[in-house]
Amino acid sequence: MKASKVRALQFRRFTRLNRTLHILMIISFISLALTGMTLKFSYTGWASALSRALGGFEGAGFIHRAAATVMFGLFVVHLWDLNRIRRKEYGGSLWKMLTGPDSMLFTKKDLTEFIGSLKWFVGAGPRPHYGRWTYWEKFDYFAVFWGIFVIGSTGLMLWFPVFFTRVLPGWLINVATIIHSDEALLATGFIFTVHFFNTHLRPEKFPMDLVVFTGRMPLVEFRRDKPAEYEGLVVAGKLEENLVWPYQRVVIRTFRVFAWTALALGTFLVLLIIYAMVFAYR
Ligand code: HEM
Repeated sequence: MKASKVRALQFRRFTRLNRTLHILMIISFISLALTGMTLKFSYTGWASALSRALGGFEGAGFIHRAAATVMFGLFVVHLWDLNRIRRKEYGGSLWKMLTGPDSMLFTKKDLTEFIGSLKWFVGAGPRPHYGRWTYWEKFDYFAVFWGIFVIGSTGLMLWFPVFFTRVLPGWLINVATIIHSDEALLATGFIFTVHFFNTHLRPEKFPMDLVVFTGRMPLVEFRRDKPAEYEGLVVAGKLEENLVWPYQRVVIRTFRVFAWTALALGTFLVLLIIYAMVFAYR
């Protein structure tokens, strides 16, 4: 292959399904956070104004439940996709999938890379030889798994209290409200600060990393970012089959507008929450 062609080609990091699920996750999460926070901070001026803009209590409640259904749906599709990958790429072995180099589970390598990163931050060592998933990407991934389990299950209890209290004591609905509300606050705070910072505000990615939208990244960037994965693909002779042409400019611009809108909405919501907690907390 010509050197100029190789330079123009990009590495395909995410499948179309991965990207679609992430976009739906962004839309549903922001909808859930905006509508949920208007309820949690209903005693503030901004929450009543936002609630009115979202169709009042009924409208906001409808958006909250509709977005929750989308989130449950994409979670199920993701589990289905994982099962498909297990059968197609790991000969049906869950063990091989969970212990392979592309596994999402934490390993000793993550601990070593975490310590290596701390050293690298202060100039006391080289940048770790990251593979397909870094420790902070794994952490973000499991935060969503945990969040969907905790926020989702308590949300279902608030949605269908009569059904759940057929078998469970009624006071559990109060407990579910507290857990749902506080875990939602934690999730919103985490996603719109730590996750945003880790993905977009790192010096290598600033001001915006579009890889989860386009699914592709320049080869030089891939080689620098995930050297262990790059070398593994070269040794296995599989790099070329993962190279694709970049998207047209108009497509990239559309993704950029979407990503900036999401970033702005999230940051704005965090500022409103901080304002409510500092000046109006009840
Ligand atoms: C994924 C499944 C979810 C379901 C089924 C669900 C369901 C619900 C329901 C039924 C309510 C009561 C609202 C009402 O009566 O109108 C509620 C409240 C709330 N939800 Fe969710 N929700 C989900 C996810 C989320 C997420 C991801 C967030 C934010 C990140 C969130 C934040 C909130 C907040 C802050 C409240 C108000 C709690 C309070 O009164 O303090 N929810 N949710």
